[in-house]
Amino acid sequence: MKKIAVFTSGGDSPGMNACLRAVVRTGIRNDLEVFGIMEGYKGMIAGEFRQMDTQSVSNIIQRGGTILKSARCKAFITKEGRKKAYLQLKKVGIDGIVAIGGDGTFTGADIFMKEYPDIKIVGCPGTIDNDLYGTDFTIGFDTAVNTAMDAIDRIKDTANSHNRLFFVEVMGRDVGYIALRSGIATGAEAVLLPERHTDYDRLITEIEKNYRLKNRSIIVVVAEGDEMGGALKVAKTVGKKFKELDIRVSILGHIQRGGRPTALERVNASWMGMEAVKALLEGDKGVMIGMVNNKVKRTTFEKAIKNKKTMNPYLVELAHLLA
Ligand code: F6P
Repeated sequence: MKKIAVFTSGGDSPGMNACLRAVVRTGIRNDLEVFGIMEGYKGMIAGEFRQMDTQSVSNIIQRGGTILKSARCKAFITKEGRKKAYLQLKKVGIDGIVAIGGDGTFTGADIFMKEYPDIKIVGCPGTIDNDLYGTDFTIGFDTAVNTAMDAIDRIKDTANSHNRLFFVEVMGRDVGYIALRSGIATGAEAVLLPERHTDYDRLITEIEKNYRLKNRSIIVVVAEGDEMGGALKVAKTVGKKFKELDIRVSILGHIQRGGRPTALERVNASWMGMEAVKALLEGDKGVMIGMVNNKVKRTTFEKAIKNKKTMNPYLVELAHLLA
């Protein structure tokens, strides 16, 4: 293997820069030429490759977002799109790729490698959602949880001052990992997760107990993918029941995707980036590098995408118990 490429794809996440820095430097220190592909699969199809040197990734470990930019690319879903991408890679002579992204990125990579087996692809899990099997933490998750925690702490100050009931929506289209951890970390009165059936009656009892009897503020953290709908919908339903309550909704949104990555994020992302290049040098392909029990672990793309990660039941219990 002489030339490798790296790209970031799908929703950006804090720590992607740290990961790509590690890929570039590990590659160069192992005598590889390393190219950055701009805007994920879109740039691959368009041939937007930039040769990277050690300096090109200096001073980025602390920055959120991704210097290579990111995109969701419809053209790569088509056979023609993938063929164009293959021809562009061949033109430059690239034989190995590190893909930093989520399930959509790995699904594309898996299909591509089946069609063009001479290009080896290894993945690093980049998404704030933490929804990939084969890793305890995805790149961006820890930072997103800390950002949500910080925001909820602030909301709590104002909620307390007015004895208000707040529904705070955090990201997680299909999963509730950010909701669960930020809820525990902020002592939320309830956390609504897509993975668990929302017991509406229990929620009402909880609100009644806390608000009516103690006359104080309440924070309910809602994952955007919760079955009752987002925070606005839940607030509307609950509002019908408690007409006299002062209810507010706060949707944290994309604030959770940006910002300086935490120390844990930077270290894990760098470690996974280094391991991805090592995997390519060993001739491995079609695997995602994850962190399991504080060690790097390789999981096939197929498993990472298809297998369902199970939510830690002890953390769910903890959230209920301490609310
Ligand atoms: O994939 C991460 C995620 O943050 C989801 O939780 C969220 O629903 C989605 O991205 C929103 O992304 P975008 O606005 O880029 O479509």
